[in-house]
Amino acid sequence: MTSRGWLRVVGIGPGPAQWITPEVQAVLTEASDVFGYHSYLDRLAPVGRQELHPSDNGQELQRARRALELALGGARVAIVSGGDPGVFAMAAAVFEVLERAPAAWRALDISVLPGVTAMLAAAARLGAPLGNDFCAINLSDNLKPWSVIATRLRLAAQADFAIALYNPRSRARPDQLQHAFELLRSERPERGAQTWVAFARAVGRPDEDLSITTLAAADPDRVDMRTLVLIGATGTRCIERPNGQPWLYCPRHIDEVR
Ligand SMILES: C[S@@+](CC[C@H](N)C(=O)[O-])C[C@H]1O[C@@H](n2cnc3c(N)ncnc32)[C@H](O)[C@@H]1O
Repeated sequence: MTSRGWLRVVGIGPGPAQWITPEVQAVLTEASDVFGYHSYLDRLAPVGRQELHPSDNGQELQRARRALELALGGARVAIVSGGDPGVFAMAAAVFEVLERAPAAWRALDISVLPGVTAMLAAAARLGAPLGNDFCAINLSDNLKPWSVIATRLRLAAQADFAIALYNPRSRARPDQLQHAFELLRSERPERGAQTWVAFARAVGRPDEDLSITTLAAADPDRVDMRTLVLIGATGTRCIERPNGQPWLYCPRHIDEVR
């Protein structure tokens, strides 16, 4: 089967239009159909007779299937994620559908275009907290058991990674960030007061809010689903500034085995 249609899986960054790459912007201009979670599509201005197909959270596989079907029928389709489409987002959902679909679907012209993920935007605002080794963990247990998340947190703390926590807390999951902090404190009992923690909320948006605290003092009630939580490593340092907004950074060198 050959189709003149195509599917582009794109990321529109975490916030402002200037963080959308020119490559993604060009696709959004050319697409006949744009799929995505409704609040991401609300951020886009439809072009000409382009059709927007908003849907809810939890509809990722249906959204991916419908987008693939339309592209197979000849449409120029963009499927949109916030941030980067490969980070806890739609690219994996598209390939999940594709893997189970008829083999002929694999001939479709598909590509994944990168975007600025929330972790990198937050890190840039804070300074350079990902300047040494780090990992990213999705704290939501909607698609994986909490036991897996707990193991990953524990091992990341033992390995002394800086840790970026996506999806840290929601109304449906109010307690997990507290559990995560307790687990990290138990892994770093002697370092709780020296482990830096940053809450980066709504980065790039008008209501952006950055705060820096320690693991010992970190209050999960300050965090919502629009927040990226960054846990520092042992080497992470905080440089105070006169404006009260310190820089957080992790040096590139590690002097000793911890
Ligand atoms: C489903 S994940 C999607 C991640 C997205 N694909 C990315 O690459 O950034 C949503 C989570 O990303 C983080 N996030 C997205 N946009 C953000 C922003 N502007 N400021 C802070 N965190 C953000 C939050 O942790 C949020 O719960």
